[in-house]
Amino acid sequence: MAAKKTKSAKRLSPAKICADEARYLMKTYRRPPVVFTHGHGCRLYDSKGRAYLDFLAGIAVNAPGYAHPRMVRVIRREAGRATHVSNLFHNPYQAPLARKLAEWSGLDRVFFSNSGSEAVEGALKLARIYAHAKAAAGSAPPKTRFLALENSFHGRTMGALSITHTAKYREPFAPLVPGVEFVRFNDVADLDAKFDDTVCAVVIEPIQGEGGVHLVSEEFWQRARALTSDHDAALIADEIQSGLGRTGRRFAYQKFAALPDIVTVAKPLAGGLPLGAMIATDKFASAFTPGMHGSTFGGGPLVCATALEFLTIVEDEQLLANVRARGAELRAGLDKLAARFDFIREVRGEGLILGIDLAVEGAPFVQEALRRGLLINCTHEHILRLLPPFIIRKQDVAEFLKKFEAVLARAAKSAKKPSPAGPAEETHAQPLAVAAAR
Ligand SMILES: Cc1ncc(COP(=O)(O)O)c(C=O)c1O
Repeated sequence: MAAKKTKSAKRLSPAKICADEARYLMKTYRRPPVVFTHGHGCRLYDSKGRAYLDFLAGIAVNAPGYAHPRMVRVIRREAGRATHVSNLFHNPYQAPLARKLAEWSGLDRVFFSNSGSEAVEGALKLARIYAHAKAAAGSAPPKTRFLALENSFHGRTMGALSITHTAKYREPFAPLVPGVEFVRFNDVADLDAKFDDTVCAVVIEPIQGEGGVHLVSEEFWQRARALTSDHDAALIADEIQSGLGRTGRRFAYQKFAALPDIVTVAKPLAGGLPLGAMIATDKFASAFTPGMHGSTFGGGPLVCATALEFLTIVEDEQLLANVRARGAELRAGLDKLAARFDFIREVRGEGLILGIDLAVEGAPFVQEALRRGLLINCTHEHILRLLPPFIIRKQDVAEFLKKFEAVLARAAKSAKKPSPAGPAEETHAQPLAVAAAR
């Protein structure tokens, strides 16, 4: 019966799939009428067999590309064993994965979740419980406030949303978690003004991804580190988009002299399967005692084995060096294009997280790229974002730049200035339908 269902689902036409989605799914995403059925390396294929060069990687998730043979082998192996045993028992893979994450991050202990937002929730709870424990022991005044940055994105659950700055994500769901204040991006004086002894954590994306690829300065990071250390508060790095190799370093914060206390990761961790993690120093992690925090699915054997394989692939295939080399080529090519097309205001980023800031709206460029078989994304209405898989080759970068040049030339003709009211589109989906997607 189940096999029969799968077979008939496969035969559905793209038009029928789109129509059924329109009828049966909640209307949270806008999608172009393309149905992706499979991928290989850094290419995705649609239901009509057309190939797309993927420079979005499932929004920074598919770092090892599609159907990497080692990932496929591990997923098949574990699917035939036990996909889930619950967190009431040990499984063989949590410990080695936690150990690797501790080694990669320079921190000590890990908690596994299912998504980035959940990892952020865990980090907020850990910072609060640490502060509560200190206050209860009489060694510190009560601290409950969180400082986050303007333009931040930390996820869609209530806690993560509360420290997410963009009004269109937050405001419809008010009231959110109280005690959150936003600091102007990279503004040390504003941080100094807003920080006091009631702050239990400062939360920073070392590179704001959804916010449009903005890099936190060394000065700002060091000041946040000094204030949190002096007041026994937590410095939380949200590396869900920037972490695990995307910058060419294991973590984006590793270019700074000082470590955070708590780090959140997700997206590429299990190379496409849902897994998040919160990593913390022993000092903070020890505030959790059994029963205080938990998850039914987080850290199951299938996802942990797959994540362990992904991190080992990054090491074995020297993908950090590849990210740096391909990232430099891509950046150099984009800088040349910026010199040619005056509507490109700035190209910024590191490694394989790059933003192209336009003086015009970005949606027509995303649509034109799709028509030409390129997958890219637009955030905040006018910033094109590139997040290709770590495995891209020199020739993929060259192919991208050639096609992207044509995209820029063509789409510039129809692009308008962004609306003064600010971003209108849901940025986690490709904006707008593409009528002639084939
Ligand atoms: C920096 C950052 N934090 C948190 C999240 C939320 O992660 P998830 O969508 O897995 O809940 C995202 C997702 O884009 C992110 O980029």
